[in-house]
Amino acid sequence: QNNVKVAVLGASGGIGQPLALLLKNSPLVTELSLFDIVHTPGVAADLSHINTNSKVRAANGPENLKDALKGMEVVIIPAGVPRKPGMTRDDLFNTNASIVRDLAQGCAEVCPKALIGIISNPVNSTVPIASEVFQKAGVYDPNRIFGVTTLDIVRANAFVGEAKGLNPTQVNVPVIGGHSGVTIIPLISQAKPSVDFPKDQLKALTERIQEAGTEVVKAKAGAGSATLSMAFAGARFAFSLCRAIMGESNVIECSYVRSNVTEAKYFSTPILLGPNGVQKNLGLGNLSPFEQELLKAAIPELKKNIQKGEDFVNKK
Ligand code: APR
Repeated sequence: QNNVKVAVLGASGGIGQPLALLLKNSPLVTELSLFDIVHTPGVAADLSHINTNSKVRAANGPENLKDALKGMEVVIIPAGVPRKPGMTRDDLFNTNASIVRDLAQGCAEVCPKALIGIISNPVNSTVPIASEVFQKAGVYDPNRIFGVTTLDIVRANAFVGEAKGLNPTQVNVPVIGGHSGVTIIPLISQAKPSVDFPKDQLKALTERIQEAGTEVVKAKAGAGSATLSMAFAGARFAFSLCRAIMGESNVIECSYVRSNVTEAKYFSTPILLGPNGVQKNLGLGNLSPFEQELLKAAIPELKKNIQKGEDFVNKK
C-alpha cells in the first residue's frame, strides 16, 4: 500500500482548515474526505484547486457523516468549540463531549477499522468517550483510538531548542501523561540530544510546556485557542499513522491511548505504530525524581477526567 485515505471531521474550523491544507500537500494521502456542519463545500472546492495528487471530497451536515467516512483508513477529529480566556480545556466538556460521541458513533458504524486521532478537547476525556462508544457498538480495538498530544511534544522541542540554542527540528522531548495542565509530563531527562537545566529553570520550562495552550489562548484574546501549531502537530501525527499503515517500521509517536503502564486507564507514552495502530507501548522509561513527582500529581487528575468521559457515555 502506498497511499492512504484520510478524513478530517471538523474540517472548516481553525484547526481543520490548515490541517486539511497540510494533508492536501502530502503525497501520503490519496483521498481527503472533509466533513463539517458548515462551509465544507467551500473549503473542499478551494483545496481541490491545488495540483497535488489527492482527491478532495466534501460532506456537510450530520446526515452526510456516513458518506464522509466510507472507506477511510485514518480519521482525524478536531470538531468542537475552542477555549476562550479564563476557560480550561475541561470547561469545553459539555459541548465537545456530545460532538465526539456522535462522530465516534459514525466511525464505529462505517469505518471501525480506521485509525482515529482525536484532537477535540478535553482530550483526557474525549478519548475515553470515543472508546466507550466503540465498546458499546461491539467494535472496540484499543489499539486504534488515539488522543493527539503531539502539540505538547512539538512545543517541548521548540522551547528546549530555544533555551539551549539548538536547532528545534533536531530536538526530541518525549511528553507523557495527558493533554491538560498538570497531566502533561515533559520528560526532559530523556530529551535527545540530552540537555541539562538547573532545577528552577527545569521547573519553569516544565510549567511553560504545561500551560503553553493558555499562553496562546491569552494572546488570541478571545479569538480561540491554538490552531496553526495544532494543525502542524495534527498533520505530523496523521502522517505517522499513514506511514505506519504503509508498512514503514520504526514509526514512533507519543500518544494518549488505552494503557496498563500506570493506574490511569488512558495514558500517553511513546508508541511504536504499525498498520493496525498501536504495535507496542514503549512505556515510561526512566523517570527522574522531578518527573516522578509530576507523575504523582498527574494520575488523580487524569483518573477524574477519564471517569467523567466514561460516565458521560454510560450514565445517560
Ligand atoms: N460535527 C462536525 N464538525 C463540527 C461539529 C459536529 N458536530 N460541531 C462543530 N463542528 C465544527 C465547527 O463547525 C467548526 O468548523 O468544528 C469546527 C471547530 O472549529 P473552531 O471553532 O475554529 O475551533 P478550533 O480552534 O479548530 O478547535 C477545535 O480542537 O484543540 C481543540 O480545544 C480545541 O476542542 C477544540 C477543537
